Amino acid sequence: MSSTPAVELRGIGKRFPGVIANYDVDLNVRAGTIHAIVGENGAGKSTLMKTLYGMQEPDSGTISVEGTERRFKSPSDAINAGIGMVHQHFMLADNLTVLENIILGSEPGRRGIIDDTQARTRIADIMSAISTDLDLDMPVSELGVGERQRVEIVKVLFRGARILILDEPTAVLVPEEVDELFVTLSSLVNDGATVIFISHKLDEVLQVSNDITVMRQGTTVAETTPENIDRSGLAELMVGSELPSPAGRTSDIKDDVRLNVENLTVMGVEGRPAVDGASITIRSGEIVGIAGVEGNGQYELCAALLGLMPSSGTVTVDGADLTKATTRQRHDAGLAYIPFDRHREGLMLNAPLWENTLLGREDEDQFGKGPLVDAASVRAYTVDIIKRFGVLTPNETTPAFALSGGNQQKLIVGRTLTTNPGVLVAAHPTRGIDVGAQAAVWDEIRRARDNGMAVLLVSADLEELLGLSDSIAVMFGGSITATLNPDDVTASELGSYMTGTYEEVAS
Ligand SMILES: Nc1ncnc2c1ncn2[C@@H]1O[C@H](COP(=O)(O)OP(=O)(O)O)[C@@H](O)[C@H]1O
Ligand SMILES: [Mg+2]
Repeated sequence: MSSTPAVELRGIGKRFPGVIANYDVDLNVRAGTIHAIVGENGAGKSTLMKTLYGMQEPDSGTISVEGTERRFKSPSDAINAGIGMVHQHFMLADNLTVLENIILGSEPGRRGIIDDTQARTRIADIMSAISTDLDLDMPVSELGVGERQRVEIVKVLFRGARILILDEPTAVLVPEEVDELFVTLSSLVNDGATVIFISHKLDEVLQVSNDITVMRQGTTVAETTPENIDRSGLAELMVGSELPSPAGRTSDIKDDVRLNVENLTVMGVEGRPAVDGASITIRSGEIVGIAGVEGNGQYELCAALLGLMPSSGTVTVDGADLTKATTRQRHDAGLAYIPFDRHREGLMLNAPLWENTLLGREDEDQFGKGPLVDAASVRAYTVDIIKRFGVLTPNETTPAFALSGGNQQKLIVGRTLTTNPGVLVAAHPTRGIDVGAQAAVWDEIRRARDNGMAVLLVSADLEELLGLSDSIAVMFGGSITATLNPDDVTASELGSYMTGTYEEVAS
């Protein structure tokens, strides 16, 4: 292994109006390693990586790549220096095939065109080096999230990257896909590449990285390795305090049933039900968790409850039969939703925060009577949410895309809980957000629960499910196959219920 660092950053500083995103950042990335950068949302990780990738110029500091000092005016300068970046949100063209996406933007060959056959051969080599397989002729629109990410990785390698930056690559993946990604990353370093891996998930970082740099409030605060630190030590460095925990189940469950679902069935593909006769009762002050490997009917269950998908069976909220109600009528009856995918279902990314607060609620009297929305009152209401839920943003006119994932989620949670819903359907309420924001979301859900809200919590985070739920229903193949008491079940037992492999041990 060469002793020249793959990347060396010294004294990097970057300001935005009103924000110091990076100051005095030092970073040394050894060649041929997986180097994790961890930090809470807003710590400055993406800013630093955009600087290294030439997307923005630093105000101060120096960048050296493989021993040579560089000044990048644009990403193409960085690409020429062997740096590639896979962004937090994918940047693929949906209407093009995998092959077209991979080739798109690459320097054309001498004759001004890229030879298709040559490209295919090179891509095949790249894919085998990183133990992956993609159908090159498939339109990207038909790919799942994990596959899209692999297209991005192959694309970056196709452009000749030796140093790969992956910004929160696991935030969008389910556990199986995370494992596959880690295999890919290991193959990459075995093949001589260097990987810079950004995450705020401590277990992952400890599992996959050789070196770890911790960022807090815009600067690097520690350098360590998985051998020299544990989860809670890392968390302390990240947030400067103890690791929050979802536990703290002090539910005071009342008698009144708030959500009652009977025999709910949602048709899926090929005549097989996506949800098969699910029945769930949730009382005031109660949290019922839904555990399941993604794709076992959780999404369809939530969509049907909100009236977004046709279903049979009955749904009542506070005794009112909503079986045939529209989504709007369900909202009016007190049913609220934190959606699965905050970008596709939850936010208009280009619109200011206040318009996102208003989304779907234009008719509410508090926002003006008649057809006209009173922008001032929506803005004031949004400012309240920003304050109460600790959304880090310059102001309420900032577009949603400019916020970190954690802050986007806090806005969604705030917008949802300030309507005082009787029933909250919360899908992965803390997915992809950092420990501090996670604790804030848990606190707010618990507070609303204490005030009598009933919660259906769908989560892939078993610690979150076990910590928050009063009971856990397991969904497998569209059916609820078990209802468990979180006090009597371990995370690994829960995992075996989720994969349908649980066997009672004879005692
Ligand atoms: N283009 C931008 N304009 C204004 N502020 C920004 C911009 N990009 C990042 N910031 C701010 O800089 C800080 C660091 O953000 P970021 O680097 O995205 O953090 P992380 O990736 O660690 O979550 C945040 O306060 C963020 O709001
Ligand atoms: Mg980021």
